[in-house]
Amino acid sequence: MIDWYPVARKFLFHLEPEQAHDLALRQLGRLHDLGLLRHLVPAQVADPCEVMGLSFPNRVGLAAGLDKDAAHIDALGSLGFGFLEVGTVTPQAQPGNPRPRMFRLVRERALINRLGFNNDGLDRFLAQVQKRRWRGVLGLNIGKNATTPIESAAGDYLRGLDAVHAWADYVAVNISSPNTRNLRLLQQEQALDALLHALRARCDQLDRGRGRRVPLLVKIAPDFEDDGVVVVARALLRHRIDGVIATNTTVSRAQVQGAMHAAEAGGLSGAPLLEASNRVISSLRQALGPGFPIIGVGGVLSADDAAAKMRAGANLVQIYTGLIYSGPRLVRDAALRIRDATPTVH
Ligand SMILES: Cc1cc2nc3c(=O)[nH]c(=O)nc-3n(C[C@H](O)[C@H](O)[C@H](O)COP(=O)(O)O)c2cc1C
Repeated sequence: MIDWYPVARKFLFHLEPEQAHDLALRQLGRLHDLGLLRHLVPAQVADPCEVMGLSFPNRVGLAAGLDKDAAHIDALGSLGFGFLEVGTVTPQAQPGNPRPRMFRLVRERALINRLGFNNDGLDRFLAQVQKRRWRGVLGLNIGKNATTPIESAAGDYLRGLDAVHAWADYVAVNISSPNTRNLRLLQQEQALDALLHALRARCDQLDRGRGRRVPLLVKIAPDFEDDGVVVVARALLRHRIDGVIATNTTVSRAQVQGAMHAAEAGGLSGAPLLEASNRVISSLRQALGPGFPIIGVGGVLSADDAAAKMRAGANLVQIYTGLIYSGPRLVRDAALRIRDATPTVH
């Protein structure tokens, strides 16, 4: 199949990044509705595996934030991913930060964003999720509104969990965006303990009520000091959390010093994040032991990067920025490389 993405990318990269993002998703949706998309993208790689009691067709998923309102599930589901994660959704709709708030660091194959959870809120999010036809593994990622004081954050997450539980294959609790003030304080021991205790209890209750166990995952940052990762790992075990997603974007600029847009505030994603994110995954694997599910994300721009993430200790891999720079072909290449590198006993 001809790789048409480099041509599309050339055009899209002439547009302002957020405009390009919206246009690309709209066009993808159109192509899907016309029944053309499946002729334009490589077929899904078959590498079936079980993680957290869920059956995945392959180990490469879409990371949260690309489809915040769950408005493009069917189109994105036909790009060959083994699973999709949509959101972050907050209880109430909110506009996010003023534009511009997304920047391309092209040479570095990176992005900086400070979107700030712009989204249409839970009700519209759920309406979209319920409309979907795609039947693959779907993770729903929940967050807190910017106006909710951090001391009341648990209330927002509980509202999110209550609302999405019936529709999610797994729920991801995002406490690691750098663009919502103080959000990352929830990764500190005491606050994390209180939050995870409340979420675990509520999720158990919802699971019992529906007779279905929905895995509860926590998404963490790459920016920890000292033994911060170990503190988080212990809390995950203590509260019987089902998995961890590592990592979100970084606030560090060490890898992009002097680059265009490097001084913009926000979270850095893409190639410069790979090593830091892999270090966190390795530390998590060491602290959590061999059986604990880890979804590795951050800086996968090539099939080799995906394989490196698995070697660092991930069970599944997600992609966001790599899709912008390399296109849908990366999904197939990464899934194939992982399949070829993983022993058949999964
Ligand atoms: C523009 C943009 C928006 C994002 N929004 C979210 C979000 O809403 N929720 C979330 O959990 N992660 C969000 N992320 C983080 C990604 O899911 C991912 O963790 C991070 O970008 C690292 O992966 P990558 O290097 O493959 O992009 C966002 C990333 C980008 C680039």
